[in-house]
Amino acid sequence: MNNNKMFEPLSIGKLRLKNRIAMAPMTRGRAGKERVPNDLMAEYYVQRAGAGLLITEATVISNQGIGWIDSPGIFTDAMVEGWRKVTEKVKPTGTPIFLQLWHCGRASHSDFHDGNLPVSASAVKLNGDNIHTPLGSKPYENPRPLTVEEIKATVNDYRKAAENAKAAGFSGIEVHGANGYLINQFLDATTNHREDQYGGSIENRFRFFKEVLEAVLEVWPPDQVGARISPNGVFNDMGCDDYRELFLYVTKEPLAKCSV
Ligand SMILES: Cc1cc2nc3c(=O)[nH]c(=O)nc-3n(C[C@H](O)[C@H](O)[C@H](O)COP(=O)(O)O)c2cc1C
Repeated sequence: MNNNKMFEPLSIGKLRLKNRIAMAPMTRGRAGKERVPNDLMAEYYVQRAGAGLLITEATVISNQGIGWIDSPGIFTDAMVEGWRKVTEKVKPTGTPIFLQLWHCGRASHSDFHDGNLPVSASAVKLNGDNIHTPLGSKPYENPRPLTVEEIKATVNDYRKAAENAKAAGFSGIEVHGANGYLINQFLDATTNHREDQYGGSIENRFRFFKEVLEAVLEVWPPDQVGARISPNGVFNDMGCDDYRELFLYVTKEPLAKCSV
């Protein structure tokens, strides 16, 4: 008898997964300069809909969030329409598809932002190999810390992106809090040197992530919201001494509201 549960269905809240295989989010860079999802991307996702759950490649929530060549976005009408083509093709397979929401923060370059510096929690440069920008391979730059007003505006960008994901026909969303991107840059003490309510204590460093989650949870019910973290991950020059306390805190009450 086959006792392997991998291919058995699973219910998570309202979601019905036909098996227990989930496709991890993977950046492809196929959306072109306009960052609008296209037929090739629809074909790519439908080819993978044998999985019980699809999580899309990271998708930028705003112009300011950009940091990767030709990655898709979810902040214009054309992007919403492009993603709708993807979700409509996946829908008949019965596999739920979640959109991963992304802001690169300092893992970006002024070449993506008309010469303006990328933003982060604090002015801490990513020490690493060069970044590929539309103008070539360039060293990372010292990012500009976001003001409190800009933080609030960024939270609002996440809310709008969550609304756009709904309009595009997704089954849910995943907030990308992992792998050294903006949310992770707020979480880690190494990249967050702020002295306001968004820095210092673990509670303060978590505040931006918490506000983002609260904003998207106004748009989607908890069983259709995921959050990705990478405790003690080192990708993008990350890692901090108090990661155990930090991620134990993060995974307790606030993230427990999300189910995937
Ligand atoms: C080419 C590539 C693109 C990736 N893009 C994303 C992404 O967009 N979002 C994300 O959260 N993780 C991304 N990842 C990380 C993967 O989801 C996964 O966590 C990583 O490959 C480790 O998985 P493994 O332990 O099964 O090898 C990417 C990884 C690779 C290799």
